Amino acid sequence: MVRLSQDKLNEIRQSVDIVDVIGQYLPLEKKGRNYIALCPFHDDKHPSMSVSPDKQIFMCFVCHTGGNVFTFLQEYLKISYIEAVKKVAEMGRIDLSEYHLDIEKRPVKQEYVAFYQMHKEAQKIYSYYLNTKLGLEAKAYLNKRHFTDDLIKEFQIGYAPIDSILYQAFSKLQFQEIDMVKSGLVVESKQHFDRFQDRIMFPLYNQQGEVVGFSGRIYKPTQHDSKYINSPESDIFVKGETLYHYHQCREAVKKAGFVYLLEGFMDVIAMYKAGIENTVAIMGTALTKGHIQALKRLTSTICLCLDGDHAGQTAMSKATRQLEEAGLLVKIIILPNGKDPDEIYESDGKDGLLEILKKTLKPIEFQMDFEYQFVDTQNYDDRKNYLEKMCFEISKLQDDVDRDYYIHILSQKSGFSYEIIQQRVAGIKPQKEENFLHYEIKKTIQMVDKYNKAEHDLLFYMLNSKEVALKYEAKAGFMYNDQYRVIASYIIDYYRKHNQLVLADFINGMPKEEFIQTIIEISTSQLPMSYDEKAIDDYIQTIASNAKKMKKEQLLEQFNYILDPTQKAEILKEIVNLSNTKESI
Ligand code: UTP
Ligand code: MN
Repeated sequence: MVRLSQDKLNEIRQSVDIVDVIGQYLPLEKKGRNYIALCPFHDDKHPSMSVSPDKQIFMCFVCHTGGNVFTFLQEYLKISYIEAVKKVAEMGRIDLSEYHLDIEKRPVKQEYVAFYQMHKEAQKIYSYYLNTKLGLEAKAYLNKRHFTDDLIKEFQIGYAPIDSILYQAFSKLQFQEIDMVKSGLVVESKQHFDRFQDRIMFPLYNQQGEVVGFSGRIYKPTQHDSKYINSPESDIFVKGETLYHYHQCREAVKKAGFVYLLEGFMDVIAMYKAGIENTVAIMGTALTKGHIQALKRLTSTICLCLDGDHAGQTAMSKATRQLEEAGLLVKIIILPNGKDPDEIYESDGKDGLLEILKKTLKPIEFQMDFEYQFVDTQNYDDRKNYLEKMCFEISKLQDDVDRDYYIHILSQKSGFSYEIIQQRVAGIKPQKEENFLHYEIKKTIQMVDKYNKAEHDLLFYMLNSKEVALKYEAKAGFMYNDQYRVIASYIIDYYRKHNQLVLADFINGMPKEEFIQTIIEISTSQLPMSYDEKAIDDYIQTIASNAKKMKKEQLLEQFNYILDPTQKAEILKEIVNLSNTKESI
């Protein structure tokens, strides 16, 4: 394999615009010169990720994840550096065939390889059986529910016959029995047998589109077992992170600007029949943090459309709060007569379903109606309880006109006066938020250390000026902070070949991820770009006169309490090295 040179890496990086690339995955909003988005790398409530088209870097002000386009793809898609490079080259139409990079495989945890393989095999086997004699009745059931062959293919639906076909196939393929059981596809009691038998099989995928589990449905009136059986959680199947149709809906979500969040995968399929593909389903479970994180990476607007029955509506009330708390914009669709989208499609057809989807409610409208069902208007406590809950909801509204409007409505519904409601709402303090100011304060506390600050700020200027970097090299050449010291030496190296430092190129090939994060953090510090010589000299003076002394003290202290002789020898070597390097000031 030919190694990619730094120049080639830079060429690849420059062949795309980071804004376009991140924009493919996250909804970006223009703000001044930069773009902002909800950060997908932490539980973000306000857009704290900033993408700079000028510098071609991104950075989150809260969780500090940052870097160039390669770093983003690596972190976001959980892929290796070289895979990210390949992806960008593809987008920028740069031919890398001469580099034979294909040998590099995605670093799947070795012990999970078998699980993925078994699921892939199982999906093929189930698909095969649906088209055999054994699957005739299952196929007829699907046809009755208006599943065309195309649809069956699209969702890779299959059939598990009454037999242990997987166990037999896996044995032939020489998978270990213990792995078969761990995968969830095979069950062990006295002997081994297939978990799924005589069911219509729907593959479930992880966020990258690999089959990681199945849901099997009964299809005959004589079957009295539970309607669906799902794979158990496994090393590769995490229910709280699984959203049905997640990896297939990205394009459609981008086009529509929002995603429909549905209850079951049959609903996803029904919507698909009606030509709507910006859908995902939670599959009957409660909405988890993992789901919300995944949704946030998709879009900032969620159209909640759970079943119209009581359970569905209760789940919707809870989900609305969770999604709003996570900073997402929520719209709500109420399905009539306790139905689900699939039933509406069956009874009212495509047009009927589309018509119902047109009418959306704001969360506050939904909550007001939903909670009102439980109010006995003759009961004072009930009404007051309702009032308290709704005041809280109203207090979340940002717009004064909206507030006024809903206070009026609440007054009518609850029978309490406008004035008292207004007073209540005004008295509710906004919930505490992670904000930039808070972050700045935290950061300041962390950086009280004078030397640390001097080193940090000097690095900022070194990133921006070769002259400063050379001055540091000549007059100090050492930093107390281990990480800063290494970064400084990278900067000096870089300037040996270049006169200007292009940040997005500079971080290419950094050996450690945390270096990239630190560099991005430093480069986005709120420091004046212009500097005077005196300030730089002061930084260097502070650093040079103290850094080594402090480092030596730190090492000596370590030397005194560490007992291991090899480690002691290492430290001693470092101390001697430090003493031997020339003092330049
Ligand atoms: P529903 O009972 O609403 O199923 O459960 P459905 O989508 O309407 O399916 P059909 O139309 O009857 O075929 C919603 C989701 O809850 C999970 C499934 O993931 C389903 O998609 N579920 C339901 C189970 O896991 N087990 C069950 O027994 C029932
Ligand atoms: Mn249904």
